[in-house]
Amino acid sequence: MTLWGTPVTLDYNHRAVSETPQALLDPFREYGDVVWLPKLNRWLVLSQPAAMETLRNSSLQVLKRRDMALRLEDQVGLNLAALSSVLNWIPFSHDGARHSDLREAFGRLLTSITADYLKAYEDVSSELLEKMRVAEQGDFATGYADRLHLEIVGRFIGVPPSERQKLACHTALDGFILNNASVREIRDANTQLAAILETVHALISSGQSSPFLEKVGDALRQTGLEDTPTSRSECIVALIVLGDDTQAGALTVGLASMLDACDGALCLDAADNGLPKGQSLVDEVLRIASPVKNSARYATEDTMICGHAIAKGENVTLSFQAANFDPKAFPCPHMLKDGRRGHVAFGGARHLCTAMPLVRKTLAITFRHLATIGRIEARPGRQLAACLTVHRYEHLPIRIVPEP
Ligand code: HEM
Repeated sequence: MTLWGTPVTLDYNHRAVSETPQALLDPFREYGDVVWLPKLNRWLVLSQPAAMETLRNSSLQVLKRRDMALRLEDQVGLNLAALSSVLNWIPFSHDGARHSDLREAFGRLLTSITADYLKAYEDVSSELLEKMRVAEQGDFATGYADRLHLEIVGRFIGVPPSERQKLACHTALDGFILNNASVREIRDANTQLAAILETVHALISSGQSSPFLEKVGDALRQTGLEDTPTSRSECIVALIVLGDDTQAGALTVGLASMLDACDGALCLDAADNGLPKGQSLVDEVLRIASPVKNSARYATEDTMICGHAIAKGENVTLSFQAANFDPKAFPCPHMLKDGRRGHVAFGGARHLCTAMPLVRKTLAITFRHLATIGRIEARPGRQLAACLTVHRYEHLPIRIVPEP
């Protein structure tokens, strides 16, 4: 690419950008909405309008990660059976007929479990926050955000309480990004997913029944997919992977951002705390957190994004973190403000997150509960997870000061 006739080499390092995204992404913006990264041999999408165009463009398809896993098995001689069977159930690893089927199945499943999921979320959220309120402190990441989705799905499928956190798949996620991951990360992802699949499969094969398992079966059959213990297990593990770290990221980065906006001491029920209210707060937290950091596409034919020619076969990385901090779309992007529209934290178009309506409700439940426990204060020890895919804190210590 050239800038005023001068060749420009933009150096982008995934790991460094992952650690301090905005400081490293902002300087790229002066070169445009979409910039070419020669060392990575791919386009980087930075602005909100370019992100929307990318998501809507049917010539830009998702990477077929399952096929990549199968190829890697042949090339490197690894056994990636668990990874490839879960990727077979991740809708944004597919376009075409398989994607349509998965989208329909997850849509049906999420619609049928929404009421039960929200009820369970209310209960688990109250229980976990009550423990912190009594102790007057806690780690909001390990004691709350990391636990909700696993507690809920674990309850639904009959995992004993002491075993539910073993469904966590934090380190598995980087192994999903097969094009950026190291062989060790890919192998670890496979090992972790194999253990979770085994736990879920053992429960399902034991003949144990539950309303949730019946709903999984209904969603598969109504979509025309095979309903077997294996397909139910793989679908449930995909549901765990999709919802665990993503929600934990929104919750932890969200609370940290609200604490920072309130100088480290937050009263969520105070009308004058300066934060947006209601659903506006939920969407601003999602924008600022951008839990899914980025997504990859490749061009199946020559195409354009915001006037940039993308040639057939070229790769495109869409940075949700950059698009959600686009200063033209979101002036003063680091501030939580009322009345903003158009964040892309859930992606968009044909791969728009199927759980978006559910997640917007779960976050609202958390904020309602946080508003009742007293003043929340930041404590030292905050630590971001070293993860390329999901933006979340793995530690977020807080103090809870009862209201007089
Ligand atoms: C704060 C929480 C969440 C965020 C920010 C989020 C974000 C996203 C994003 C960005 C995509 C699109 C990826 C792409 O285009 O490459 C996506 C897709 C998806 N998400 Fe979420 N997600 C969240 C929670 C969940 C939960 C809790 C579930 C299910 C329990 C879920 C299920 C899905 C599904 C099924 C898709 C695939 C849609 C498709 O490809 O057609 N997500 N999500």
